[in-house]
Amino acid sequence: MRTAVLISGRGSNLQALIAAARPAEHPAEIALVLSNRPGAAGLGHATEAGIASQVVDQSAYAGPDRAAARAAFDAALSKALEAAGIEMVCLAGFMRVLTGDFVTRWRDRLINIHPSLLPAFPGLDTHARALAAGVKLHGCTTHFVREEVDSGPIIGQAAVPVLAADTPESLAARVLAMEHRLYPACLRLVAEGRAKVVGERVELVVTPSGGDSLMQPPS
Ligand code: GAR
Repeated sequence: MRTAVLISGRGSNLQALIAAARPAEHPAEIALVLSNRPGAAGLGHATEAGIASQVVDQSAYAGPDRAAARAAFDAALSKALEAAGIEMVCLAGFMRVLTGDFVTRWRDRLINIHPSLLPAFPGLDTHARALAAGVKLHGCTTHFVREEVDSGPIIGQAAVPVLAADTPESLAARVLAMEHRLYPACLRLVAEGRAKVVGERVELVVTPSGGDSLMQPPS
């Protein structure tokens, strides 16, 4: 399944997806990396891996009519994706809200990773907010994308304990390590048709892990 990864910055989840998809028998091929920012460090990971990359520079789509600018940017994204024959889109630290039209066009072929256990803490600064709320488990979620930000049928989640000495940075690092396991596992399931949206919930076809794992699906 020809897959594009959309990034805005560091690209560590992109790296994890590239590494997992490297074996020829992997059901997803990372065929394109798209960034909305020219300076995104993650673009270098694409180059190193010999994967085509492209920038759709959001600053070229500014203007007084915000809705028109957003529509034009998202149309440019879709055009680039379609030109590359992309079938599946992964948002990986893509820090831009997509229009309803784009989300509809890629419905059930567009997935995201978010650094919290949704539906808790949608939006930004999730780690600081989790600490402030005093939650004892925090984590990350992969989901099919719907128009409302950080919403949509959940594919997988992984949890980590919140420690008394945690700072937002230490907690983010522990969650990020789980993101790098969860996202590739979920992309594989989606590409294999083993994570399907049924009535706005995802049905997983996985071997039950049993026990006390804090990650579902297991990687
Ligand atoms: C990741 O933690 C990802 O979950 C988060 O941005 C980071 C990107 O890191 N995404 C969001 O907050 C989207 N709402 P990366 O560029 O190293 O993959």
